[in-house]
Amino acid sequence: MNTLHNRRILLVDDMPTIHEDFRKILVPPSAAKGALDAAKAALFGDELRPGERPFELDSAYQGQEGLAKVVESLRVDQPYAMAFVDMRMPPGWDGVETVERLWQADPRLQIVICTAYSDTSWEEVLERLDARDRLLILKKPFDNIEVRQLAGALTAKWEMTQQAALQIDSLEEAVEERTRRLTQANEALHAEIAERKHLEGQLIQSEKLASIGQLAAGVAHEINNPIGYIFSNFSTLDGYLADLFAVIAAHEAAAPATADIAALHERVGLDYLKEDVPALMQESREGIVRVRQIVQDLKDFSRVDASQDWQRADLHQGIESTLNIVASEVRYKADVVRDFGQLPEVECLPSQINQVVMNLVVNAAHAMGPARGVITIRTGAEGAMVWFSVEDTGSGIPPEVLPRIFDPFFTTKPVGQGTGLGLSLSYGIVQKHHGRIEVKSELGKGTTFRVSLPMQQATAVA
Ligand SMILES: Nc1ncnc2c1ncn2[C@@H]1O[C@H](COP(=O)(O)OP(=O)(O)OP(=O)(O)O)[C@@H](O)[C@H]1O
Ligand SMILES: [Mg+2]
Repeated sequence: MNTLHNRRILLVDDMPTIHEDFRKILVPPSAAKGALDAAKAALFGDELRPGERPFELDSAYQGQEGLAKVVESLRVDQPYAMAFVDMRMPPGWDGVETVERLWQADPRLQIVICTAYSDTSWEEVLERLDARDRLLILKKPFDNIEVRQLAGALTAKWEMTQQAALQIDSLEEAVEERTRRLTQANEALHAEIAERKHLEGQLIQSEKLASIGQLAAGVAHEINNPIGYIFSNFSTLDGYLADLFAVIAAHEAAAPATADIAALHERVGLDYLKEDVPALMQESREGIVRVRQIVQDLKDFSRVDASQDWQRADLHQGIESTLNIVASEVRYKADVVRDFGQLPEVECLPSQINQVVMNLVVNAAHAMGPARGVITIRTGAEGAMVWFSVEDTGSGIPPEVLPRIFDPFFTTKPVGQGTGLGLSLSYGIVQKHHGRIEVKSELGKGTTFRVSLPMQQATAVA
């Protein structure tokens, strides 16, 4: 049925004559039934006005029967808009109980309680039913017009209530739709903000690298010269010292030392010097070697080795040879697991990519605690990009440290064990390849670095 049009009325009353009266009032013979009927209707004053929709009237003689009709009406989806319910209907339910039951079945039902006298006070009736907006009282003897007006007004109210509910439904749908669109817009905005932040971060990082690069190039140049002559002086000094000690030894062998000389030997601790000087020289040389390595790293970092050629290379081969080089660093700390995909050759500076792999693998090995861990190296291709990742089951990186790991010279390792250049070098190399390096880390669980590179460079620049 059309849910918005409903003129169905149920009369629940134990008196058959009341049913006849209601039928005359609410369902008079229509004009269509002929002039005679119409005249008859006019005589009784019962006719519907032209255009007025007719009522449908159903009868029940007890509350229980009324309930059954309401339930059935719902089953066939033809609910009543309203019911007239008599107050006293022995032997069955009284009006109030009937109304209660009817509303349990269909709360939308508009109801008029009809009575001439009452064994229950109206206040009590209203209190028991607690639904004043759906309940009217009609006192017998009633006027025909009262019945018709009530029927007209309450069926119209039922229709309007339905309409309002439908409108609320569609309003709610509209609100939901709007909310959904707003949520989508919001999500898109968040994604954009995140992307911007990411780009901003990259920009800051590359600016940092550019300025540190300039600085590094200058410093490297300045330091390189002195290191050069310190280094070569060391070899010469080594020789000189050996000669000096040889001369002293010859003197000692040639003639016994005077008391003065013996005292001097004693005072300067010549025997100790003979042992300690070579040790000091060796240690200093190691220090200089280390400084030279740092300067080399700085140079690599600033120029990222301009002399190399771009070439198509097999990434897996590079990874394997790098793993060989770092085998001694990794061997006692972790097992290396390979999970390689299918990769095309990649246009790159192979030795630099190897350097990235090396830094990541060595970092992964260093992140392991006393227990043996796993380093998993994965590779794959995605669209025009290839990627490789190095995952470890190490210490993880604390969130407050994470933003700094690509900074040059940032290290959490003890003095002498890390220069803090590994990741910044790697970052510079990946950037030069127009790729990305990303990191995910969970404290206590491990870290994954993922590097993506374009298979082909738009314009290969050395
Ligand atoms: N896989 C990892 N797990 C935990 N921490 C890491 C990992 N990789 C890097 N880090 C952190 O980032 C810091 C910077 O790393 P980076 O490679 O730049 O320098 P480093 O390893 O300390 O020294 P270098 O590589 O120059 O010898 C490290 O000191 C460490 O704190
Ligand atoms: Mg490192």
